[in-house]
Amino acid sequence: MPAKVAILLSGRGSNFLALHGAMERKEIPAEVALVISNVAEAPGLEKARSLRLPTVLLPHRLDPDREAHEDKVLAALEHAEVEWVCLAGYMRLLSAAFVARHPERILNIHPSLLPAFPGLNAQEQALEWGAKISGCTVHLVDEKLDHGPIVLQRAVPVHDDDNPISLSARILVEEHKVYPDALGRLLTERWRVVGRRVVFS
Ligand code: GRF
Repeated sequence: MPAKVAILLSGRGSNFLALHGAMERKEIPAEVALVISNVAEAPGLEKARSLRLPTVLLPHRLDPDREAHEDKVLAALEHAEVEWVCLAGYMRLLSAAFVARHPERILNIHPSLLPAFPGLNAQEQALEWGAKISGCTVHLVDEKLDHGPIVLQRAVPVHDDDNPISLSARILVEEHKVYPDALGRLLTERWRVVGRRVVFS
């Protein structure tokens, strides 16, 4: 049985499409059971609809507080019997209570080699710092921003003539490979979290 995966997104949705493509090609034993967006205009939501995937729009601005919003997201995940949650450009921090409902089953991708450059505009941060190497990180999600145990990382060179657009594009190519790789390994291999380390055995 393919694992039921929910994608949470707020924007473009290219990592969602990379994950979905790998599932469709049977490279990973999973299926997109649900796509949730908190942004009505998110291009990723439109892409999910055109692929005829189940989608739910949950605009957080309509909810009185984070708990009320997260309750709706959790209810949608439960209804779809979701086993894994992949954040893919989801611009909201999840609470500890939310994470506790899906322990070690929520993934995120971030466009830097964490713990360097967490938060917004990671590629610009890398350029401004003068980093010679950056990359991307897939990690298990905890309640802190871009913080949980690292699953996989890919390094990408920073060129002297890079700007945020060129560096983002080079990193994105690797994001689209490493996110399916990470999910596939978590689904098919034995692993455990030891301290902060995700150890495959
Ligand atoms: C990616 O760079 C991802 O690493 C970050 O947000 C961006 C989302 O892009 N978390 P997309 O919506 O997947 O195209």
